[in-house]
Amino acid sequence: MVSWEEYGLEKNPFEAIPVEKNGVVPLETFEGRTKERQVLKQIIETKCRSLNLVFGDPGVGKTSFGNYVRQKMLKDNYFTTLKEVDCQPNQSTSEFIVDILYHIYSTIERTEQTNLEKVKKIIQPIYDSCINNNGAAKFSYAYLEDILRKVGGEIKKSGLNGIIIHANNLENFVQEGDVKFKKFLSAARDLFLMDGYHYIFIGNKEATDCFYSDSKVKTVVSSATKIDELTLSEVKAIVRKRYKAYQIETLKQTDPVSDDTITMLHEAHEGNIREVLSALDIAVQNAERGVKQDITITPDIARKTLRNYVEKEITPFSPKTLEVLQYIIKKKATNSEISEALNIIPQNTSSYLKELKNKDFIALEKKEKTKKIYIAKFKAIWLKFSIDGGVQQSLSEYYA
Ligand SMILES: Nc1ncnc2c1ncn2[C@@H]1O[C@H](COP(=O)(O)OP(=O)(O)OP(=O)(O)O)[C@@H](O)[C@H]1O
Ligand SMILES: [Mg+2]
Repeated sequence: MVSWEEYGLEKNPFEAIPVEKNGVVPLETFEGRTKERQVLKQIIETKCRSLNLVFGDPGVGKTSFGNYVRQKMLKDNYFTTLKEVDCQPNQSTSEFIVDILYHIYSTIERTEQTNLEKVKKIIQPIYDSCINNNGAAKFSYAYLEDILRKVGGEIKKSGLNGIIIHANNLENFVQEGDVKFKKFLSAARDLFLMDGYHYIFIGNKEATDCFYSDSKVKTVVSSATKIDELTLSEVKAIVRKRYKAYQIETLKQTDPVSDDTITMLHEAHEGNIREVLSALDIAVQNAERGVKQDITITPDIARKTLRNYVEKEITPFSPKTLEVLQYIIKKKATNSEISEALNIIPQNTSSYLKELKNKDFIALEKKEKTKKIYIAKFKAIWLKFSIDGGVQQSLSEYYA
């Protein structure tokens, strides 16, 4: 176990969750995305209502971006919920409205915005129903829509400019099949036309693309913003900000990782911030240490540590499981593609896939009708790091 205090830090700065100080995420720990934020800010400020899509690969920083945009808009006199609204699989439009109303109510309550007591009153019956676990069940869609409209009106009456709703993880929703999601969307079109509401829907590309497949919904989309991988200097700045946030004032601070290590991992993980942070985390926590605890991890130590870490994890795998993994590392694939290429019966491929999935080496990227497409997860990349000597070498050739 690493003692972070040895580095002069309160806690682990590499944990791939937002930095938190006294229960809040400090705005200054966010880095970059200036242009993307400007686009959203301008739309929200110039329109009475809007529907904005934000998309990108897993772990690039979509949720953080949505939260940052919303937090910044608080200063411009907008209302937003404390937490983002999570899209649930199989959700109906009514359930979605109830979720939004619940978040609005609890935000007003927790932040003690006494000027919005009237809004709370409007939502009260729905909030009570949620507390009793009845959710949307007993309300008609027309009733819920009316409540949402009244809430929007009341928020404006209280002098605020509008409400920003951040609906997160849209892919959860779409995974259940886009037929249901399309039904949801066409029913939700009226919501997107309601004054005072600015929606930010966040998900992967496939999920946000669904908005364009409905000819009516398509016409109300205000913007679509792609979130790209962060640049090397942005990732370095994020790491520095994280050190700063957790620095213990009275202690000398030592960097747990060298600048070169961040560069090496930024390249290996193609700029994916979640993956870079996780790699730094595992490298620091698992590096061999002597008496000196506060060592600074160099690229060589990081490569060796990560490689050893992942190799330990694959030791129990059978040669066939490894073959399947190797195949998926090279390219994402379905069960039948793998079975055919490696000459394995599909039933066995399923069990190899299950093992790899349980050990977090692969993930289901998406379902296309009955086809499931699997991709390698980030730690599989560490198998490519070569280490001098013996057995390791032969494995590295195997994965090259
Ligand atoms: N621009 C940024 N500035 C500072 N930290 C960031 C930034 N973007 C992301 N992070 C950090 O990187 C981590 C991953 O980001 P985030 O959860 O936003 O990614 P995501 O794209 O929503 O991932 P997922 O696809 O898993 O939902 C978080 O810990 C977050 O704090
Ligand atoms: Mg996210």
